[in-house]
Amino acid sequence: MRSYFDLIRQYGNSDLLPMHMPGHKRKAGFLGGFGRCDVTETVGTEDLHHPGAFLREAMAEAAALRGSDETYFLVNGSTAGILSAVTAAADPGDSLLLARNCHKSALNAVTIHRLNPVWIVPGKISPLRVDGGVDPADVEAALTKDASIKAALIVSPTYEGVVSDVAAIAEIVHRHNIPLIVDAAHGAHFPFSDGFPADPLRCGADIVIESLHKTLPSLTQTAALHLRGSMIPRDRLRFALQAFQSSSPSHLLLASAVECFRIMETDGARQTERFLRSLTELRNAVKGLGECVLLDKDSAAMTAYDTSKIVLGFRGYSGGALHQALRRDFRVEIEMSAPGYIVAMTTLYDSDEDLFRFGSALKKLRRALPFRGERAFPAVTAELPEKVMLPAEALIRKKETVPLKEAEGRIAGETIYLYPPGSPLAAAGERIGPELISVIRRCEERGFTVRGAEKGRLSVLRDERA
Ligand SMILES: Cc1ncc(COP(=O)(O)O)c(C=O)c1O
Repeated sequence: MRSYFDLIRQYGNSDLLPMHMPGHKRKAGFLGGFGRCDVTETVGTEDLHHPGAFLREAMAEAAALRGSDETYFLVNGSTAGILSAVTAAADPGDSLLLARNCHKSALNAVTIHRLNPVWIVPGKISPLRVDGGVDPADVEAALTKDASIKAALIVSPTYEGVVSDVAAIAEIVHRHNIPLIVDAAHGAHFPFSDGFPADPLRCGADIVIESLHKTLPSLTQTAALHLRGSMIPRDRLRFALQAFQSSSPSHLLLASAVECFRIMETDGARQTERFLRSLTELRNAVKGLGECVLLDKDSAAMTAYDTSKIVLGFRGYSGGALHQALRRDFRVEIEMSAPGYIVAMTTLYDSDEDLFRFGSALKKLRRALPFRGERAFPAVTAELPEKVMLPAEALIRKKETVPLKEAEGRIAGETIYLYPPGSPLAAAGERIGPELISVIRRCEERGFTVRGAEKGRLSVLRDERA
């Protein structure tokens, strides 16, 4: 069968005069020729929102591969999938059970639909103070206490690779007759090897959302939403998917999503096996380094761990210092640095040489660090702030900005978060406490950008009568 990419390339190279979008007209000079295949809905191409035979079949093949009832390609990232899943699962005004380390798109969905977020706070894994998994007992307790909760959303795996007990959580939420949405944006590779944790879809989740672009060979913004069972109304989900995505989905992105599943179906297992061998060597080399802490499946606060994430800290050094030294001295650019650790992402497209080079850099890193003695930055573990009003209510109130030192006791006017990973330190509508102010101050001093706080000032509600 021809690939969707062949199809758009054929159109791109044809002599048809394009009196239509896109505006760059696929001229050779545009983006060095890269725009050649950026075509629109035209001869042979299809509309994602009303798919023809090709895309319907490609999504059905992806569904068969992934074991879903339906799979939808996404061109607006997992972000669109999360917004759509919440739209389909909860009615305006409902309560949504939400892990506090959720992505900002989940909180945006809460705001758009005037939902009441009921938070579950994952424990921390020492000594790096990484977020642990969601405890099924917390889910049980929350659902028993609050019958107004209409759906649950957890992140598994997390940015750092921590996996929750999705099977146990799915059993609990289904017993309470509500659906489970799993944000598996960082876990699209799980189904392709037993060397990775279990696929959340097979563990019983109703919707699983995966960013193809994060851990599989696919262009940025490509993602997939997998649906199983009958708890989510499909017409609402389809409505939301077209509402939260462009009406002109990029065909390059669609071709990439199609190709991604084809690659994984035909060669994914073999490539992953090779990758896992090299990855194990890399992890063993790093584990042997003194003063280094490498996150692994050795904590009760997680059910499984995705070893393709290299999450590590060196005693006495901030994640920022490690990040800079890797870039400056070894020409290695990692995914992100948190105050106390770094996150590097590896995938099956890393060659053995790439992983060896990264391992060598980590071995030499300690000696390249500029100075000793800096205390590891305390993790951002402020208490869960008091919820004064719904995020949707805070959105429409009048706001002002005040210096950090004057923000204590005020109500956050917008969500305050570190990006990445984009989980809320305080959601809009929550009361700002002294601990949060000190966390923000220390993050800013260390060069981290805190969204929702600018140059030492915070957005707070002007009229605070709730
Ligand atoms: C946990 C989590 N969920 C969802 C997303 C959104 O994914 P995307 O960038 O594909 O929209 C991210 C992005 O970093 C994330 O970290």
